[in-house]
Amino acid sequence: MTVESTKKLGSLTKILIAVLVIVFVVTAVTVPSILLTRPARKSSTVSVSTSSSGTLSTTKVSLTVTTTASTNSTATSTTAGITSTATITTVSIGSTVTTTTAIIDSTVTTTTAIIDSTYTTTTADMASTVTTTTTTTDIASTVTTTTASVSSIVTQPTTHITSTVISTTTEMTATNTSITTTTEMPTTATTTTAMPTTTTIQQLVIPNISANAQWAQNGVAVAGGHGNGDATNQLRGPEGLFVDDDQTVVIADLGNHRIVQWKMGDTNGEVVAGGKGQGDRLDQLNEPSDVLIDRAMNNIIICDQRNRRIVQWSRRSNTTEGEVLIGNIQCRGLTMDDQRYLYISDTEKHEIRRYQIEDKNETIVAGGNGQGGGFNQLNWPSYLFVDQQQSVYVSDRDNSRVIKWDNGAKEGIVVAGGQGQGDAPTQLNWPKGVFVDVLGTIYVADDRNNRVMRWPKGATQGIVIAGGNGAGDGTNQLKGSQGLSSDRDGNLYVVEWGNDRVQRFAIQ
Ligand SMILES: *[C@@H]1O[C@H](CO)[C@@H](O)[C@H](O)[C@H]1NC(C)=O
Ligand SMILES: *[C@@H]1O[C@H](CO)[C@@H](O)[C@H](O)[C@H]1NC(C)=O
Ligand SMILES: *[C@@H]1O[C@H](CO)[C@@H](O)[C@H](O)[C@H]1NC(C)=O
Ligand SMILES: *[C@@H]1O[C@H](CO)[C@@H](O)[C@H](O)[C@H]1NC(C)=O
Ligand SMILES: *[C@@H]1O[C@H](CO)[C@@H](O)[C@H](O)[C@H]1NC(C)=O
Repeated sequence: MTVESTKKLGSLTKILIAVLVIVFVVTAVTVPSILLTRPARKSSTVSVSTSSSGTLSTTKVSLTVTTTASTNSTATSTTAGITSTATITTVSIGSTVTTTTAIIDSTVTTTTAIIDSTYTTTTADMASTVTTTTTTTDIASTVTTTTASVSSIVTQPTTHITSTVISTTTEMTATNTSITTTTEMPTTATTTTAMPTTTTIQQLVIPNISANAQWAQNGVAVAGGHGNGDATNQLRGPEGLFVDDDQTVVIADLGNHRIVQWKMGDTNGEVVAGGKGQGDRLDQLNEPSDVLIDRAMNNIIICDQRNRRIVQWSRRSNTTEGEVLIGNIQCRGLTMDDQRYLYISDTEKHEIRRYQIEDKNETIVAGGNGQGGGFNQLNWPSYLFVDQQQSVYVSDRDNSRVIKWDNGAKEGIVVAGGQGQGDAPTQLNWPKGVFVDVLGTIYVADDRNNRVMRWPKGATQGIVIAGGNGAGDGTNQLKGSQGLSSDRDGNLYVVEWGNDRVQRFAIQ
């Protein structure tokens, strides 16, 4: 073979290789939209020629990486970036190209595998269903990447992506090669995605009231207080009340056969159940004595006393009638615990029953041993309170005491009164509305003494905290205190049967 023909053959070989190289190259890159502000794109290029090997590792934001590897070369490109573009061009015979990409808002589309070459691409980006995460750490840089795929369910409360690139210089060792690669950009990108959170609706609001708390001696009417009547700014012999989270009071307006709702500062109430006259139709009530809001279901549950039934009205607008939850029960007071068990006082059977609303399951949790004054008995139980341990506090009206029955107990413990009817500090006279704070202090509306008392846990006598200045309609007086409750802050709300109003006594 002549020198010339050898040269010719060499040239032909080169042309053939070049053709093959061109034929097998495919490149595609796209980038979807993102939450982040896109920084300006930067570029870097790696060129690796015949029989060489090179590694390029980059970590950056909005970087375009180009890797070129020719015959019998090895090129590795690793990109961990945000809104980045990775482009692989020129991959030829006998080469190995490995690309690992873990990118937010970036997409790398693979090229074609070349004869005798190995080409591996791994992509985990936000638009894919792959949730794999690749973390690349460059020289003197820190990369923390947690990738949550958009189409996946994320169980972490927060997805935090932080990339910090302090300085990136990638060096490549190769033979027969001139390599140009420079990357820069001290960049910090932080993105925080707030995840949907599940909120647990709390039924019980147990106020945290300090042991030495004081209340204003003069109350302010927050509902009614305009005489006995059925106008929207009036009440008629109201009894039970429920204080909602947003300081809305819902009142059993007994004599008007309706449930009314007053928001703080309102001059008129809104009828939310009944109000269609006395009767037993589903749109009517007959002397409702107590009411509560089932917060989880957004329903109003009412002791429809004279109809001997418990009814439920939806709080959604346009509700025109209720549904009967429990029939044939001589109810008086109601409460509900955090498990949505409903507790009802029965003034005929002198017991407290607990219901599971959906299952209609029922259990006696206090009394149930006939009418009487024993510790295992009740005598006309009126209002109720239940704590987080499912202990039930009962205003045991005709025993002039508040008695606490722990969950599963066979008898109760007297926690206020129990010293006969009277107005001494050790006595109560028709205990009515009752609630308990986080310290276990008992608050009770002492109906016939026209006062509200506070009994620290274990105390043998109480302290008057509202009223107690004789029956009257002065701001420091009460007349027939019935329902009693508190908001989160410890302000007191007292329903006065005799003054047709709800008084608020601010905590100091
Ligand atoms: C590539 O490597 C193979 C064997 O490993 C060799 O036969 C071939 O000549 C090489 N090609 C080039 C262009 O170096
Ligand atoms: C350059 O590559 C050829 C083969 O492609 C090899 O024979 C030669 O030794 C290389 N040169 C250096 C300096 O490594
Ligand atoms: C009640 O409030 C006091 C004082 O702010 C606090 O130290 C205590 O942890 C609170 N208790 C509860 C059960 O929240
Ligand atoms: C209540 O009724 C009114 C009038 O029929 C209607 O315009 C409104 O959309 C209803 N609201 C709801 C919550 O259904
Ligand atoms: C009814 O409730 C009681 C506890 O209150 C429970 O022990 C019992 O298993 C319940 N029965 C049904 C049928 O759910």
